[in-house]
Amino acid sequence: MKNIITYCLLSLMIPATSLFADQEEKPLYKDKKQVIEKRIEDLLSRMTLAEKVMQLNQYTLGRNDNANNMADPVNDIPGEIGSLIYFSSDPELRNRVQHKAMEQTRLGIPILFGYDVIHGFRTIYPISLGQACSWNPGLVEQACAVAAQETRMSGVDWTFSPMIDVARDGRWGRVAEGYGEDPYTNAVFAVASVKGYQGTSLSSKKNVAACLKHYIGYGASEAGRDYVYTEISKQTLWDTYMLPYQEGVKAGAATLMSSFNDISGTPGSANKYTLTEVLKNQWKHDGFVVSDWGSIEQLRPQGVAADKKDAAFKAFQAGVEMDMMNRCYDQHLGDLVKEGKVSQDRLDDAVRRVLRVKFRLGLFDQPYTAVTKEKDRFFLPASLAIAEKLAEESVVLLKNEHKILPLTNVSKIAVVGPMAKNQFDLLGSWAAHGNQDRMVTIYEALKAEYQGKAEVSYAQGCNFDGDLTSGFEEAKNLASKSDVVVLCLGEKRGWSGENASRSTIALPAIQEQLVMELKKLGKPVILILSSGRPLDLTRLAPLSEAMLTIWQPGTPAGKPVAGVVSGRVNPSGKLSMTFPYTSGQIPVYYNQRQSARPHQGKYQDIPSTPLYEFAHGLSYTTFQYGDIKVSAAQLKRNTPLKVEVSVTNTGDRDGYETVHWFISDPVSTISRPVKELKHFDKQWIKKGETATYQFEVDLERDLGFVDGEGKRILESGDYYVMVKDKKVKIEIVD
Ligand code: GLC
Repeated sequence: MKNIITYCLLSLMIPATSLFADQEEKPLYKDKKQVIEKRIEDLLSRMTLAEKVMQLNQYTLGRNDNANNMADPVNDIPGEIGSLIYFSSDPELRNRVQHKAMEQTRLGIPILFGYDVIHGFRTIYPISLGQACSWNPGLVEQACAVAAQETRMSGVDWTFSPMIDVARDGRWGRVAEGYGEDPYTNAVFAVASVKGYQGTSLSSKKNVAACLKHYIGYGASEAGRDYVYTEISKQTLWDTYMLPYQEGVKAGAATLMSSFNDISGTPGSANKYTLTEVLKNQWKHDGFVVSDWGSIEQLRPQGVAADKKDAAFKAFQAGVEMDMMNRCYDQHLGDLVKEGKVSQDRLDDAVRRVLRVKFRLGLFDQPYTAVTKEKDRFFLPASLAIAEKLAEESVVLLKNEHKILPLTNVSKIAVVGPMAKNQFDLLGSWAAHGNQDRMVTIYEALKAEYQGKAEVSYAQGCNFDGDLTSGFEEAKNLASKSDVVVLCLGEKRGWSGENASRSTIALPAIQEQLVMELKKLGKPVILILSSGRPLDLTRLAPLSEAMLTIWQPGTPAGKPVAGVVSGRVNPSGKLSMTFPYTSGQIPVYYNQRQSARPHQGKYQDIPSTPLYEFAHGLSYTTFQYGDIKVSAAQLKRNTPLKVEVSVTNTGDRDGYETVHWFISDPVSTISRPVKELKHFDKQWIKKGETATYQFEVDLERDLGFVDGEGKRILESGDYYVMVKDKKVKIEIVD
């Protein structure tokens, strides 16, 4: 009798198809010859409620290394867990935990291991804000492929990257992680990153699943503070923030991460419109959404959830499939289903999405990572070369008076400042497993670069901050005996990134004071700036003959910088984010809407124009632009339009030139930005030669606008296509 009762109880718990699983030959979901969708359905039909819920949870494996997210590690990791954040760079630990999932659980569903690989895993390349200044998506794709190879071979299948939050407030530390102020720029680099990470097949042991984040509007954080309210109208949601995600999803991004920010009253992690109506219903995304760390539980302080169960309900119903360390889904989702508040269909849809990514990654068939030596994974010569080239092309020459750069015909160079002998801070935020190996400081790199040509000496001068001026004297003595001062200043790594808002984007006073003191000596000053954000350089610009921003270059560190200073590298970077005249101007960005009174409404105390505009960047050569040519000046909808411009290298050395193509629509149903970037192209032009840049305009995509429902509209009337100070009128006729 007892056995009969046990049997009946068990059969209530485990779907019938599994009762005889151990008797049948290999179950369909384990048969790699079967198509993925069939494998998913077979596995789903075997899963209990508890097993389904656990697939929708992510814990960290051990203590997390993100200081902003304090949470008790889950000590006894259940083998049924859906995903783990993996903080080790050694696949051994992963394989041990994976073994528990594969061999000690009823169904043997592999765990998905994720980690924040934002700009490299061990080979670190420039922060994303700097990458965008290269205007070289092909190179960024290569860099992401390097990151994917190092990541996957180290036991991580999924990166929480790219971050594609359009951001216009440099006080917000996370501007460092995205591709700047422009929607189109973020969209292009979103696609490049997804292609680089995911390659042509997710199941390759050198590719990882990408994660578009933070969906959506996180970059609009009020006053540059983090985790706060964002006021975003439906119109702005579509014409400023959606494009990068729409293009990233089209490129096949496996996952997205829901954002912390409250989007005009509905937080990103409880926003059914963005997470389901747009992402799933309109864009047909068939992967899954993971919450940000705690962003479900945080619905409580945001005032839209009464408790963790309510938060779980709101987030899950909105369209967040996986709970990153909120401990909400694992504790409450099962009950919500049993209580009928969450439908079995919605639960199954969520589990399907997670399983689909796992199957596509090949985890069911190859759950373990081959254990390889670090030398076979990291710092491969080709990887270092890609990182170095990206660092070179990310450098933006902001100012170069009297062509003091490239620095030649000098015999004594004083290298001064807190960044001169620094390595750690040049890695930037979110540097994953980056370390100081292989990093050559700016000072050492300049010494090597000028070996046998000039004497290069060092004095620190000051710290990054504080008020210690005791180093000034030594720096002044060195400078007074030198021909030129190369001043290496900037931000510490922790001053940007997550939870790193600053009320001012100026450098600490001590650094500015050092510049002023050294300038009194009458020697030419070259400023080299490393930061995770645009800086307020208004007081430093007049004190320096040349200024260049190197962002946070990563492993290549000083070498690309020395190459630019010496002229071995002709700088080609152009700003992906405006440099305001001062913090008081923020937000200031190129694609602003026009004022009702363009001639009035200015600041009384400072200029209303930024110090350096979007797309600003100098070269050691000069380029002359011809007039824009158009294939037709008047045309109907759905007609191809080709525009082109010739650019001649009129200087004395070869160089890259990026042409940015903007459009404007001076009269429209809605007020449109004064101009909008719609295409860019970078070419190497030999001195004295001319290159032709073409832009095949899709009238609706490139001239039209998108309304508050995401509908793209092309109205008849006049438009302008612009390059630099050139523009040509295009008339769309009915
Ligand atoms: C953080 C960040 C997110 C990151 C996640 C995991 O809070 O907001 O970008 O991917 O947690 O570290």
